[in-house]
Order: sequence, then structure tokens, then C-alpha cells
Amino acid sequence: MNLLDGKIVSQAVKDRLKTYTEERLVQGKKAPHLAAILIGNNGASETYVASKVKSCAEVGFTSTLIRLEESISEQELLFKLTELNDDFDVDGILVQLPLPKHISEQKVIETILPSKDVDGFHPESVGRMVQGLPAFYPATPYGILLMLEHYKIETKGKHAVVIGRSNIVGRPISIMLNKNEYPGNCTVTVCHSHTHNLKEICLQADIIITALGKPEFLKGDMVKEGAVIVDVGITRVPDASKKSGFSIKGDVDFNDVAPKCSYITPVPGGVGPMTIAALMMNTFKACAAKD
Ligand code: GUN
Repeated sequence: MNLLDGKIVSQAVKDRLKTYTEERLVQGKKAPHLAAILIGNNGASETYVASKVKSCAEVGFTSTLIRLEESISEQELLFKLTELNDDFDVDGILVQLPLPKHISEQKVIETILPSKDVDGFHPESVGRMVQGLPAFYPATPYGILLMLEHYKIETKGKHAVVIGRSNIVGRPISIMLNKNEYPGNCTVTVCHSHTHNLKEICLQADIIITALGKPEFLKGDMVKEGAVIVDVGITRVPDASKKSGFSIKGDVDFNDVAPKCSYITPVPGGVGPMTIAALMMNTFKACAAKD
């Protein structure tokens, strides 16, 4: 079993971006600028956004963190987004999800200009991705592709099983894995809460991507010998032994599955850091597209 180490691969991506950014500055061009909006006091969202802002500093990007009250109205938030759309210096905009219930996620996603949609959630970005056109790929699936590429994992003709069909991970990764270029060309099966015979389907998989948010769901007896396992799950579970009071669990029972597979992502330290590296890549591309 080999680890797919997101810390190492994300650092390699960030090192590359730092060099590219330094080259831009030498050429008299601007540094990429990410604007992140964080609404309310969701602990997990606070942690993710803090990591995104920290990564911007590491690679030499400018970042603006906009913190808004949980009670902000939808109209005020949409107005803020239009201001950021109109701000030439801002290259990428992200609004950390989930949003308070009174705000429409779809309206927020559709208000961000597609050219600044570094999360890749806008219907135009998704449509371009589906058609194989240059597009911002959603950060988590894009991070998974960067990881498969780094470890030169063969994908052509392989059977990839994706568990979960969310707009953020399951659905886009299923499309990206069957595109007609590396990493891609897989035969993809998408499983979800209504799938029959999930275990039998998983046992046929060369690559399994779990994105369902159920701690330690995937067990060793659901995995074929030599399979590649990518665990997108990050659920906080109560843990009195931790200072924070919780520990982070993936969707994969790591100790049970690891002995059977060829490659596996740990949680934490697997897909999580790759998501941020992919967001940095998108922000760089958004900036470079304006040159
Ligand atoms: N919440 C969970 N994942 C994501 C993500 O990739 N982007 C944003 N904006 N919010 C999220």
C-alpha cells in the first residue's frame, strides 16, 4: 500500500505557483488576488477559509477575507458580489458554503462572474467542463486529478466507482474521470443512496472515490485487491481525547482498507490539502487570463 500524500503534492503545486507568481511580478504584472466571503460562525468553514487565505500568502497571492454576519440579507450579499465582480484587481471570488438557510445558494453561485468563478460552481463553468472546453474545475475534483497525475496512476480503461453525486464533488469527478484524456478515460459508475448492490459494484472498481460524508463507511470487504482509494470524506466526530473535542474521519475505514489497496489517501492530509492547491491553480489561471 502506498499513501497518496496530499501534503507533499499540494506543496509541490504551491511551490510551482509561487515561482510563476514571482515571474509575473518580475514582468511588472499583478499578483493573483482571491476574495473569500465567510458568513456566520461555522467552525469548519472558518478553518477552511483560514487555510485558503494562508495558502494565498504562501504562494504570493493577494487575498481579501470578507466576514459577514449570519443575518446578512441575500440582497446585501448579492450586492457585495457585484462589487467584487466589478473590481478589476480581484481575479477570483469564493463564497464559503454552506450558506445560512435564508440565502439561495444558486443565486449566489450564478451572481459570481464566470471569469472569476474559481470554485467552478457556476452553471457556465459546469457546462464548459461537461463539453470538454477550458473551464474552472471545482477545486476538490480538480485536486483529485492533480493527485492522480502526480502519482502517475493509470486511468485509461479502468473502472472508477464514485460514491456520492453532489454538485461539489461526486457529479463533477464522475464527468472528469471519463473525459477523453489523461487523467480520464475511465468507465465510471456513480453510486448514491438509492444504489442497490453497492458492495458488489465497489468490488469491481479499480478506483473508488468516496464522497458521501459517512465516517468509515467503506470497509475492506468492499474493496478489490490492488484498488486505488480516494477518500473525500471529512466529518467531525466527537472525541473527548482531543483538545478541540472532535476528530476528523474520512468515509473510508483506513485500517481495514489500507492492506488491500495499491494507493490510498489519508484523512486528514489527503484530498483536503489538494482542494486548496487546486483553488490556488484556478485563481492563478483567472488572473493570467486577463493579461
Ligand atoms: N464548502 C465545502 N467545500 C467547498 C468548496 O470547495 N468551496 C466553497 N466555496 N465552499 C465549500
